[in-house]
Amino acid sequence: MSAPTAVVTGATSGIGAAIAADLAGRGYHVVVTGRDGEAAARLAAGLADASAAVLDVTEPGSAAAVADAVVRDHGRLDAWVSNAGVSHMAGFLDVAAADLDRTLDVNVKGVFRCGQAAARAMLACGNEGSIVNIASIAGKSGRLPYLSDYVASKFAVVGLTQAMAFELAPHKIRVNSICPGFVVTPMHERELGWEAELRGATIDAVRQGWIDDTPLGRLERPEDVAEAVAFLLGPGSSYITGEALAVNGGTVMD
Ligand SMILES: NC(=O)c1ccc[n+]([C@@H]2O[C@H](COP(=O)([O-])OP(=O)(O)OC[C@H]3O[C@@H](n4cnc5c(N)ncnc54)[C@H](O)[C@@H]3O)[C@@H](O)[C@H]2O)c1
Repeated sequence: MSAPTAVVTGATSGIGAAIAADLAGRGYHVVVTGRDGEAAARLAAGLADASAAVLDVTEPGSAAAVADAVVRDHGRLDAWVSNAGVSHMAGFLDVAAADLDRTLDVNVKGVFRCGQAAARAMLACGNEGSIVNIASIAGKSGRLPYLSDYVASKFAVVGLTQAMAFELAPHKIRVNSICPGFVVTPMHERELGWEAELRGATIDAVRQGWIDDTPLGRLERPEDVAEAVAFLLGPGSSYITGEALAVNGGTVMD
């Protein structure tokens, strides 16, 4: 039997790269996707069983082209991880219309487009499937400074995940989201700089504040998220759908 296939969006950096590496280590054929095809190919070349594809989640048809190619080449699409996301920081009153549009286009409409493409392809090849959408603690609490458009986008991901899970359950496609906390990635480094500037604090002080906000007492590793993704894609979670799994060291509990 051929290996199960998994597509990861935004896989050339941070959490996405960790998810791709983790799934390749668990025997999936991983399709490493990103806007930069060369970066995706470089990452795929270092994994046990992987290929690369260009996928811009804001481009209508981009996700469908990748999903259809996976079915054509492998005969099955088992797993899809919508990880691509963007953030920027500004006070609510200062969020520019263009920044709001970009956040919602990537973080919400991107997940929507990818979910449709993945589910259609899974239905077409008739296998059971599992979709994981990467949300955030910002999808569980708005008590975060300078992130109002991001909070709006991640609450939307949690709601969309439930709606997808409800409609796709009869087709044996499970859909869950994960809500990470303060994960050390390029996005995290950018946010440290922005928050330090907006608060007039040092980067070290902002970082320490994030650690102090985390009951488990350390920043999150991308691998902490990747392990939870593997669980939600795998057979150990076969009765879980519509869940928003907190993987955040206890920062936000609900
Ligand atoms: N780092 C954190 O603390 C944190 C916490 C909670 C949730 N998240 C979420 O985790 C996910 C990954 O974030 P990260 O921290 O690894 O950030 P990152 O900036 O390192 O990676 C984000 C990836 O998304 C890609 N991307 C952006 N726009 C895209 C588009 N239009 N099409 C395809 N890919 C696109 C980027 O190129 C990059 O590869 C995001 O959804 C983010 O919101 C991050």
